[in-house]
Amino acid sequence: AADPRLQGISDAIRVVPHFPKHGIMFNDITTLLLRPRVFKDAVDLFVERYRGMRIDAVAGIEARGFIFGPAVALAIGAKFIPLRKPRKLPGEVISEKYVLEYGTDCLEMHVGAIERPGERVLITDDLVATGGTLCAAIRLLERAEADVVECACLIGLPKFKDFYKLNGKPVYVLVESR
Ligand code: PRP
Repeated sequence: AADPRLQGISDAIRVVPHFPKHGIMFNDITTLLLRPRVFKDAVDLFVERYRGMRIDAVAGIEARGFIFGPAVALAIGAKFIPLRKPRKLPGEVISEKYVLEYGTDCLEMHVGAIERPGERVLITDDLVATGGTLCAAIRLLERAEADVVECACLIGLPKFKDFYKLNGKPVYVLVESR
């Protein structure tokens, strides 16, 4: 049976039609953040899954991966690595471009964030749609010789629900996008 906390999580996400542009149904997690019990349920579900997996680092994707990733990292005793949009990180970086509906974007990570080859990393974000952003994050971490264990998102398109792999790495989602 499904965990009863998942329905509360799904119900707390607001769906905003035609944002940021016509035809897009935007899944807004800020309404979930206003419900501390539901916010905690989401973090707890990730913590319960990853606590026993010897995760060394949680990598969060700017911007909404920065909301959930650090909470999970602290609870499982892992470090947190921000994966940022271009020109935000002050130190030496490696970058990976990815394709959006219109144009391209890029994620950057500090050189040195992965301190030893084979560090076990969990990647977090709020939502996976095409998977392009997560794929760029996986490529970045693998270039730094990390071992990407899994990607975790609150929300995914239905195809991500049960068992789906991106670049050979499993994607775990809590609820389907509406
Ligand atoms: C959203 C979302 C994911 C990404 C998922 O971020 O938070 O990071 O899109 O899309 P994909 O699976 O098709 O790659 P967005 O690009 O809106 O950036 P933001 O968080 O900085 O607003």
